[in-house]
Amino acid sequence: MLVTGGAGFIGTNFVHFTLAERPDVEVSVLDKLTYAGNLMSLADVADRINLVVGDVADAAVVNPLVAAADVVVHFAAESHNDNSLNDPSPFVHSNLVGTFTLLEAVRRYGVRYHHISTDEVYGDLALDDPAKFTPNTAYNPSSPYSSTKAGSDLLVRAWVRSFGIAATISNCSNNYGAYQHIEKFIPRQITNLIDGVKPKLYGAGTNIRDWIHVQDHNRGIWAIIDKGRIGETYLIGADCELNNREVVEVILELMGHHPSDYEHVSDRPGHDRRYAIDASKLRAETGWEPMFRDFKSGLANTIEWYRANEQWWRPQKAAVEANYAAKGQ
Ligand code: NAD
Ligand code: DAU
Repeated sequence: MLVTGGAGFIGTNFVHFTLAERPDVEVSVLDKLTYAGNLMSLADVADRINLVVGDVADAAVVNPLVAAADVVVHFAAESHNDNSLNDPSPFVHSNLVGTFTLLEAVRRYGVRYHHISTDEVYGDLALDDPAKFTPNTAYNPSSPYSSTKAGSDLLVRAWVRSFGIAATISNCSNNYGAYQHIEKFIPRQITNLIDGVKPKLYGAGTNIRDWIHVQDHNRGIWAIIDKGRIGETYLIGADCELNNREVVEVILELMGHHPSDYEHVSDRPGHDRRYAIDASKLRAETGWEPMFRDFKSGLANTIEWYRANEQWWRPQKAAVEANYAAKGQ
C-alpha cells in the first residue's frame, strides 16, 4: 500500500492504524515533509515502513512507487483554509497537479486508488437548515483550499469514467485527535491554554463543524477499501455538530478554566457557516459505525496527548501564533 501524506495528521494516524490492525500490509509512505509533515510522528514505526521524501506532483518519484503498489491511499494535500487565503499557489500545485500525477500513474499501472477528500467541497449550509450533505449534494466550494479539493475529486471521477480506473472517493468532516498540526482550531486552543493564552474564536463563534475522531475516519477509509463499490463516493461523519464556541467551552472546562474565558478575534474571510454529513450510504453499504461517540471524552484524550507530547508541537508554536497575530487572529 502506498500512503501519500503519511507524515501529516490523518495520514500518520492511518499508518499507525494499518500497521496495528493489518500486519499483513506492507506500507510505503510518500511525503514531501512540508511544514505540516513531521517525521517524529512516524519515528516509532520507522523500521516498519518504506519512507520516501518527495512530491506527489513529481512523476519521476510517483511512477515507480505506484507501479510497486496494489493500492494507493492519497492523503497528501495542503490542508489549511487560512493558509490558502494567504497564498493559494501550493494548493493548486499539491492538490490539483499532485492528484493528476497520481491518477496518471494509477491509470498506467492499473492500481486501485482511494482518494481522501473533504465535506468542504459542498460549500456550506445555513445555521438553521435541517439539511445535511449527501453524495448527491452539488459541489459549491468557497475557499482556494476547498476548490482545489473539489477539482481533485472531479479529476478522479473523470478518470473513472473516461479511463476506467478502479477508484473510490471519501469526503469526511472535521477530524480531531493526536498529531494534528497546531495551526488547526482544536490543537491551537489546547496549546494556547497550556501557554496561559486565551482561546481565540473567529467572529461570533457560531460557525458549526461536524466533528469526528480521526480513528473513526480511518476505520471508514478501510471499510471503503474493503467493501466500497468502484467509482462511488462515500461521506464519512459521526453526527457531532457543534458550534465553535461550544467546542472552546468544553476545552476550557476540561482544562480547568471558566467556560467563558476565551476571546473573539477577526473572522476568516468567506468563513463557511456550517458543515453537516449524512453518512448513511457508508453505514448501509459497509456496516461502518463510529466508535468515538462521546466528543468530551475523545477531546479529553486529545488534550492529554498534547500535554504529554509538547516536544512534538513546541518547535512550531511561536511561528504559528506570530502568523495569526499578523492577521489579528
Ligand atoms: P496535514 O496538513 O496534517 O498533512 C498533509 C501531509 O501531506 C503533510 O505530511 C505534508 O507534508 C504532505 N504533503 C503536502 N503536499 C505534498 C506534496 N506535494 N507531496 C507530498 N506530500 C505532501 O493534513 P491532514 O489534516 O492530515 O489532511 C489529510 C487529507 O485529508 C487531506 O487531503 C485533507 O484535504 C483531507 N481531509 C482532512 C480533514 C481534517 O479535518 N483534517 C477532513 C477531511 C478531509
Ligand atoms: O471539514 C473538513 C475540513 O476541516 C478539512 O477539509 C480541512 O483540512 C480542515 O482543516 C478543517 O477545515 P476548517 O477550516 O473547518 O478547520 P479549522 O481547524 O481551520 O477551523 C475550524 C473552525 O474553527 C472554523 O470555523 C474556523 C474556526 N477557528 C479556527 C481557528 C484556527 C477559530 O474560531 N479560531 C481559530 O483559532
